[in-house]
Amino acid sequence: MAKTILITGGAGFVGHHCAEHILRNTDWNIIILDSLNYAGDLQRIVEIEKDQDGGNDIINVKKSNSDRIKFIWHDLRAPISPTVHKLLENLDYCIHFASESHVDRSLQDSIPFVTSNVVGTANLLEYLKHCQMQCKTLIFSTDEVFGAAPEGVAFKEEDQLKPSNPYAAAKAGEEMIAYSFAHAFNLPISIVRSTNIIGERQHTEKFLPKVIKSILNDEKVIFHGGGTKDLSSRCWIHARNVADGLLFLLDKAGTKEYYNISGEEKTILEVADWVCEVIKGRKLNQVEYEFLDYYSARPGHDKRYALSGEKMKKLGWTPPIDLERSLKKTVTWTLANRQWLQF
Ligand SMILES: NC(=O)c1ccc[n+]([C@@H]2O[C@H](COP(=O)([O-])OP(=O)(O)OC[C@H]3O[C@@H](n4cnc5c(N)ncnc54)[C@H](O)[C@@H]3O)[C@@H](O)[C@H]2O)c1
Repeated sequence: MAKTILITGGAGFVGHHCAEHILRNTDWNIIILDSLNYAGDLQRIVEIEKDQDGGNDIINVKKSNSDRIKFIWHDLRAPISPTVHKLLENLDYCIHFASESHVDRSLQDSIPFVTSNVVGTANLLEYLKHCQMQCKTLIFSTDEVFGAAPEGVAFKEEDQLKPSNPYAAAKAGEEMIAYSFAHAFNLPISIVRSTNIIGERQHTEKFLPKVIKSILNDEKVIFHGGGTKDLSSRCWIHARNVADGLLFLLDKAGTKEYYNISGEEKTILEVADWVCEVIKGRKLNQVEYEFLDYYSARPGHDKRYALSGEKMKKLGWTPPIDLERSLKKTVTWTLANRQWLQF
């Protein structure tokens, strides 16, 4: 019998890529649970179900897509209700993405971050504890829980958490709740952290679509940072690589473990230059961008994040698609699907 996976937050950016990857590479049934906040959009699920070309290049079709995705509207800030429980069949796997996800919003108001990310995770795990003890669960978190990485350092799984903005702190809280449930109730839960993710259908509040939009509209690209000598840098990875790593971990992960999925390190200017190359055939020139002082414009801004991918490599996994190729594909796809830049 085909297995069933619950994907929370599957109407969001990373979650829908993961749902698409599982749709194309397994014969599992997929239940997406999402509250459809401002970042959740059912159109993402409509497009992956239609087999519309999302630029997918890790495909190994196992079964037709029809009727394999079921959607449940539920806000995890509330406990799983008896009605929702009836809709959740025997679950084999769960990947928990549902989360408030934008740092800038957390600087304006931290409360939704604490309620969705910490309380929401506790509500999900209470449900799994009572009803789905055997469900192998991956809690999806972020490199930001470690705070800024000094030059030359890539944080390993067991390093100390030092979150430096409310979003990162709420994700760290989510991780702590998850680990405690794995430990106290012997649930098969592990925690996976990823670096910055790019890909198709990302919300325009995030860096890559924002840069694409500015360049397309001939507007200045705004960077957080002190200038070209003080550029922020991140490790970037495409959402399909992340989904591939998660599918790998659903098979290989132990319990009460932490895993890092890491991308390739580039400064924000290098990424914007690549985008400009695709759109205009040349790099950004100096009048086309501007720096906002990150200390005043974005309190708690971390100049650099980095994760070590060594543990996953030793287990036998590395990202299948390189950054340059996946970034160019994402930009080209977005140019052909500009409705995703509207909001
Ligand atoms: N995007 C990145 O670069 C990145 C990097 C590392 C980790 N992450 C993590 O990946 C996950 C997904 O990120 P994303 O970029 O896809 O975010 P997103 O904002 O695009 O999607 C989040 C989804 O969760 C849903 N959601 C939010 N609160 C909910 C609640 N209380 N109940 C049910 N559903 C709720 C939203 O409706 C949305 O569909 C998050 O946990 C985030 O912390 C993201």
